[in-house]
Amino acid sequence: MAPRYSVPVLGIALLLLVSSTSAIDAGRHSSTFGYVGSNGPGKWGSLSPKFVTCSNGKHQTPVDIVKGQVVRNKRFEPLPRDYNPVNATLVNNGFNIEIRFDEHVGVLVINGKNYTLKQVHYHTPSEHRIDGIQFPAEQHLVHQSADGNFSVVSILYKYGAPDSFLRKIKSNLGELAKDKCAGDEEAHIPLGIMDTKHMKRKTRKYYRYLGSLTTPPCTENIIWNILGKVRSISPDQVQDLKAPLASSCKDNSRPVQPLNGRKIELYDELDAKN
Ligand SMILES: *[C@@H]1O[C@H](CO)[C@@H](O)[C@H](O)[C@H]1NC(C)=O
Ligand SMILES: *[C@@H]1O[C@H](CO)[C@@H](O)[C@H](O)[C@H]1NC(C)=O
Ligand SMILES: *[C@@H]1O[C@H](CO)[C@@H](O)[C@H](O)[C@H]1NC(C)=O
Repeated sequence: MAPRYSVPVLGIALLLLVSSTSAIDAGRHSSTFGYVGSNGPGKWGSLSPKFVTCSNGKHQTPVDIVKGQVVRNKRFEPLPRDYNPVNATLVNNGFNIEIRFDEHVGVLVINGKNYTLKQVHYHTPSEHRIDGIQFPAEQHLVHQSADGNFSVVSILYKYGAPDSFLRKIKSNLGELAKDKCAGDEEAHIPLGIMDTKHMKRKTRKYYRYLGSLTTPPCTENIIWNILGKVRSISPDQVQDLKAPLASSCKDNSRPVQPLNGRKIELYDELDAKN
């Protein structure tokens, strides 16, 4: 997942800018991250002093969820989410495709604490794995509490029928892919009022653990909730999500990180009923 602050300039954006005399400062250039070569995930921690947690952190995300090792937690609650339709903006921030909410869209409640939904973005292929299996896509719903802590709801996608929400924004994604004047700015396309029904379907099962942002600065202490229900996406839709991105970010999935003793807990509706 990506924080909504920190908008690094990516390689391609810099190439588009070389004719412009302003704005390319070495500081930003050195902290540019991507997913291949010298700016790839293994190097993030050395790209900027702000990114050291990416290499030093002991509680990093993503992880492989080994079903045989997860621990059921009967005290977990069913992940209540209350989102309302509000104006949204489709954003290409260079390293992923994001939907940003212009107003208060709603909250996720964990242990009685409200986490406000800030943005939704995609990774292709998935970052989390289940029993070693990587999926073609993963959606992250990024929430933040009033005291600044993050919690992310993650949804995995397998190939199959098209996703109804991505079908609705197909033309917008196409516009984003055509936008060549982004430079070091993000490309923005207004989506109007976004229907949020698909984002708050009842959850029967989820995995929870403490992890980090999956992009620099890799900040830790984030509550991850990976839904047990895998949804479907068509191969075309995965391409629609990749098309607007810089070449070094088309496969924008960080490799799995060691658990280092962390346990992954499971909420299962069946336990809650007993
Ligand atoms: C949504 O955005 C449009 C265009 O900016 C604006 O006219 C409209 O009032 C907004 N709707 C709401 C509910 O804020
Ligand atoms: C938490 O969110 C709920 C649902 O939107 C709301 O009713 C409640 O007032 C919020 N609590 C706080 C402390 O903001
Ligand atoms: C919230 O963040 C602070 C500072 O990072 C941390 O000390 C605290 O434990 C966090 N609270 C929760 C519930 O994660």
